[in-house]
Amino acid sequence: MADYLELMPGANKSAVRQWRAENEARLARPKKGFLRFQEPWRRTCTLPAAEYCDFTGDTVLIGRHGELTGDQARALHESMRAFMPWRKGPFSLYGLEIDAEWRSWRKWDRLAPGLPELKNKVVADIGCNNGYYMFRMLPRQPAAVVGFEPMLQHYYCCKSLQHLAGQAADRLSIEAMGVEQIGFYPGSFDVIFLMGIIYHRREPLTMLAQLKEALRPGGTLIVESQAIPGRESLALFPEHTYAKAPGVYFVPTAACLHNWLNRSGFKEVQLISQVPTSPEEQRRTAWMTFESYADFLDPENPQQTIEGYPSPDRVIFSAKI
Ligand SMILES: C[S@@+](CC[C@H](N)C(=O)[O-])C[C@H]1O[C@@H](n2cnc3c(N)ncnc32)[C@H](O)[C@@H]1O
Repeated sequence: MADYLELMPGANKSAVRQWRAENEARLARPKKGFLRFQEPWRRTCTLPAAEYCDFTGDTVLIGRHGELTGDQARALHESMRAFMPWRKGPFSLYGLEIDAEWRSWRKWDRLAPGLPELKNKVVADIGCNNGYYMFRMLPRQPAAVVGFEPMLQHYYCCKSLQHLAGQAADRLSIEAMGVEQIGFYPGSFDVIFLMGIIYHRREPLTMLAQLKEALRPGGTLIVESQAIPGRESLALFPEHTYAKAPGVYFVPTAACLHNWLNRSGFKEVQLISQVPTSPEEQRRTAWMTFESYADFLDPENPQQTIEGYPSPDRVIFSAKI
C-alpha cells in the first residue's frame, strides 16, 4: 500500500513527514537502547516473508513450520527472544509458538460484538504494542490500520512481525508516535481504538477531546480500560501504584468513563463489556517471565490489589461523534 496519508485529506502531512524525518535521525544514533531492538528487527528483515498467514483465529499465525531452514528458524527464535517480555499474543511464527502474558484473544472476543464496520475504513490503534489487535482487524478488510506505539521494544517487534507477514499485512502501518501526536490527524480516522491507555494519562479528558478531533464525521471511538467496580461516577487516584503499576492516574468506574465520554461530547455511548480481570487472561509465561496479575493482588483477598484498592474490572465502550 502507498503511504496511508494519501487516504487522509485532512491530515497535516507535512507535520507527519517532518516528525518521521526527525525521529529517523534520532533513531540513527548508535545508542545502546536503540540497537537493542533495532538489531533483532534487522535480523528478522533478512528472513523471507511467510507464504501463509491466518489472522482469523485466537493465535496470529504467520508462516508454517518447515518454511524456514534450520539456520533461519534459529535466527527467528533468537530475534523474537530479544523482544521479551511479550505482553500481547499469542503468535505462531513459522511454528514458533509465542505465548504472551495476555491471552489477548479474550479482549478481542469481548470487543467483537460491539465492533463498528471496518471494511474500507481508516483505523487507528493507539498504543498498539506488538500489533496483535491490528492483525486481528485485517480480515475485516480496512483500507488502512495505523498503529501508534512510542516504546521502541514494541515498535520494532511490530515492524518485525509486519515484515514476516509480508503482503498479508500490506494495509498495516506503524508510527513510533504516542497519542501526543494525534493532533497531526484532524478528521482523519473512521475508527480509533484506545485500549489499555486512558488510566495511564494525566489528562484523560484532554486526550478524549483530541481523539474526537481526529475522527471523521460519524466516526467511532472504542475505549477499553481498567475500571474499579461500583455504580457511582467516581475515579480512583492511587497514591503511588495501582496493582503494582506505576504511571496509573485515574481508574474510573464504568459509570465515570461513560460520563467522561458524554461530557467530552461523544454520542451513542455504549458499554460493550465489563468483566473482572482474571489470572487466566493475564499470567506469567515462558515469553514473559516477570510478575503478573496474580502477584498484583492481595494474597488474602483477591478482591483487592496489593495496595488495598478494589481489584480492576476491564470495560469496553464505543462512542460516536
Ligand atoms: C497497557 S498497554 C495496552 C496495549 C494494547 N493497546 C492492549 O489493549 O492490549 C499500553 C501501550 O501503550 C503504549 N504507550 C506508552 N506510552 C504511550 C503514549 N504516550 N501514547 C500511546 N501509547 C503509549 C505502551 O508502550 C503499550 O504498548
